[in-house]
Amino acid sequence: MQNTGTLIAEPLMSGVISYETPQVADDYCRWDDAGSWLLGYPFIPVALGLDDMPGAHLVDLGCGPGELTRWIAGRHPVRTTAVDASAAMLELARAQHPHPAVDYRLSVGDAMPFLADASADAAMASFLFTCIDDRLLMQRLVDEVARVLRPGGRFTILMPNPDQAHDAAFEGFHRGEPGVRYRSGDTMPIRVRREDGSWAAVTNTYWPRETFHEVLGAAGFGGFTELTPLLADAPGVADPALIASRPWTAERERPPFMLLTAVR
Ligand SMILES: C[S@@+](CC[C@H](N)C(=O)[O-])C[C@H]1O[C@@H](n2cnc3c(N)ncnc32)[C@H](O)[C@@H]1O
Repeated sequence: MQNTGTLIAEPLMSGVISYETPQVADDYCRWDDAGSWLLGYPFIPVALGLDDMPGAHLVDLGCGPGELTRWIAGRHPVRTTAVDASAAMLELARAQHPHPAVDYRLSVGDAMPFLADASADAAMASFLFTCIDDRLLMQRLVDEVARVLRPGGRFTILMPNPDQAHDAAFEGFHRGEPGVRYRSGDTMPIRVRREDGSWAAVTNTYWPRETFHEVLGAAGFGGFTELTPLLADAPGVADPALIASRPWTAERERPPFMLLTAVR
């Protein structure tokens, strides 16, 4: 098992993590997200095919502090509407990751009334649904993405790999407890390492791929494709300095993340 060290995990909050307070939003920015930058985030533009979509309108639902949103805007010829339900997260995003091609917006009742039907060419949600503990809310959010996305538009969801959910250790995070098999909608304990080496304990919701397929299918999506990148897939996609910076032991053999892409 990787990443043991001293696991002193301070519970950040009780219940499924909510990012609505400035304390939790600030803490999120201190998590060691090197693994996400290696095998998660940079694969989103690949899955969406953004390099072939000059001038496209991208919706980033659950954009959080905007680091990923700005990174994509700086490398791909898109304009982005970045949406979050947390005013605290959006305050961080506007202050720390502004970009002329990014419009940060607060969602309204879990909807995006400021976006017209079929007005977006592509959509993404990165680590959003693990902090949604209600399947009906998940369905409403996916229905809203379907409303704003044009027919043929792609929607990529980046998530922890649902197949790595039982006492799974990766660089910077650990998911689930030994011997526990999680079912759709179960709460799951997660430990995440901060950049200072301390650990935070948070609670996520476990959603298997079947639930994503059902929810996306009910919203009119189809044509599902999956990416489950391993270290060997990182060259040419992730930052070479990041690839070289750590041993990435688990990531050589087990994919920590899954990118599920569906077509409207
Ligand atoms: C784990 S963070 C991910 C942030 C960013 N996408 C990333 O990958 O770093 C999840 C984000 O989803 C947001 N969120 C939670 N529920 C939401 C909802 N119903 N609508 C929009 N955003 C939501 C949270 O406020 C938080 O900023």
